[in-house]
Amino acid sequence: MCGIFGCLCEGAPKVLLEGLKRLEYRGYDSVGIALINGDELFVEKNKGKIDEFILGLDEARLKGEIGVGHTRWATHGAPSKENAHPHLDCSKRIAVVHNGVLENFLQIKEELLKKGHIFSSRTDSEVIPHLVEEYLNEGLTLKEALVKSMERVKGSAAIAMISTVEPERIYCYRRESPLIVGISERGVFCASDIPAIMPYTRRVMVVPDDRLVVLERGSIQIEDLRGVMYKTEFTEVTWDLELAEKGGYPHFMIKEIFEQPRAIRDTLKIPTIFLDKAARLLTGRIYLTGSGTSYHACLSTSYTASDLVGIEMRPMISSEFADALLSLESSTVIAVSQSGETADTLNAVKHAKSKGAKILGITNTLGSSITTLSDAYICTQSGPEIGVAATKTFLTQLVALDLLLLRLGLISGRLSESAHRSITHELEALPGMVEQILRRADKIRDLALKYSKKENAFFLGRGANVATALEGALKLKEISYIHAEGYPAGESKHGPISLIEPNFLCVFIAPRDRTRERIIGNIMEMKARGAEVFSVITEGDDELKEISDEYFEVPRANEILYPIICTVPLQLLAYYAATFRGFDPDRPRNLAKSVTVL
Ligand code: G6P
Repeated sequence: MCGIFGCLCEGAPKVLLEGLKRLEYRGYDSVGIALINGDELFVEKNKGKIDEFILGLDEARLKGEIGVGHTRWATHGAPSKENAHPHLDCSKRIAVVHNGVLENFLQIKEELLKKGHIFSSRTDSEVIPHLVEEYLNEGLTLKEALVKSMERVKGSAAIAMISTVEPERIYCYRRESPLIVGISERGVFCASDIPAIMPYTRRVMVVPDDRLVVLERGSIQIEDLRGVMYKTEFTEVTWDLELAEKGGYPHFMIKEIFEQPRAIRDTLKIPTIFLDKAARLLTGRIYLTGSGTSYHACLSTSYTASDLVGIEMRPMISSEFADALLSLESSTVIAVSQSGETADTLNAVKHAKSKGAKILGITNTLGSSITTLSDAYICTQSGPEIGVAATKTFLTQLVALDLLLLRLGLISGRLSESAHRSITHELEALPGMVEQILRRADKIRDLALKYSKKENAFFLGRGANVATALEGALKLKEISYIHAEGYPAGESKHGPISLIEPNFLCVFIAPRDRTRERIIGNIMEMKARGAEVFSVITEGDDELKEISDEYFEVPRANEILYPIICTVPLQLLAYYAATFRGFDPDRPRNLAKSVTVL
């Protein structure tokens, strides 16, 4: 995933760099900008993070009122100065930034090489400026050349292009990868997401798929590749930019963990009309699919669905979906994705659609690809999540899915009015429960100091808490680099237990639910082999306090809520362990917020 930004406004260099900083979560292995000043195209790019990049810039050269910029997460070509965007044509008149993957770039590159074009990077993206140049040389206008280029390239692309040939315009194009535009008295802007342009305007529009955009001073025009104009409808962003900034916290991740009570409260307000539309879609066999943390939400929900409404839902990792040769005719697929752009999940959705399944999307990103591919969708109300490790979006996915199950139960007659009422009431208590846990974050911080010296950890649970265990282990490993594995506690004796030696850390998800007695048995097995046991337990559970080396108490709750509240101490554990080990939890190595390659 990469971030693109473009602006035509006063003080463009500063706006450009600020915008790129807000997009850095989308990729941070290289960064670059291009500005037009008079008839000169100024380009600066490099490998590394944006703060280092800014330090190396010669301020005196940052001039002009029109520019584009890019933050990169490498797919084609290693992170390097040459592979960083913007990419230029041979005559250095055209600068292009691109987010996406071009499937047929090798073929196009070969053709262009034969025609004498000289490439300076190993990226797929560089074919775009050369292709535009080629068509310009054939006598087309810049816009015609871009249209023809976009018709030639296959794959996903959100691009922004400036050129000294038409120094008063930014041209953009969107296919699959996200692109939004905004306008205000200050200027016109384009970017990969809304928060990037929010300091300059709140009047924004999500660019529809397969559209060309022309940004000029005071106007934004949208059209399709045949030149048919598309009505521009700007909406006013009502949420606060504060939500997308650190707000005094040292990292986005901890800010987002502490935002969870608010995120849950807002998600609980999803209108019933949307939930009912979604619930009515759920007929035939039902599958749940997602990647990473979103898959854990699917797994957890598969247990809750059987428990709450007696409906079987099969969870599938998205990258495995097509290979599982599932019977998809007359089935429904619930596709869960924070970003709505994860390639594996989109691929599963496209496969399911092609086999006749209906799609229900659960996403945090309005206007994302998943919303356009789905028959119905529900938007979780987390607000933007910047930290690469998913936290608040996981909890709100679980809440949205629980709300959906409740409506499904009611509509299908599997849940009585009174059961529906009482569980809804319990869900409403969730934000307060999470607040109560967060007030005791210090206890987890102290434990994290001790555990941050470990090299290995098991996370064990039963039932829906297997998903919690997997999520706890994923959080710890992805940001603190401690080797952590989540496992069904009952299965751990069939192999993994052989790894246990004195002081091996075992984290048990052990709330007071139907799994408790058997979990106690698993704790004893591990302790007998010298494991150091940390248990997440229900408040006042003295027996578990007694047998655990350390414990953290969560409030007493309905069984279906434990996967939500037991996750919070595990998120905190991962966060603090990462910081004690000296790592930046917002930017884990080798990971991106949204992975848009298969
Ligand atoms: C990446 C992120 C994970 C995330 C997964 C799925 O791997 O690093 O944190 O859970 O993608 O993302 P999605 O946006 O589809 O939920």
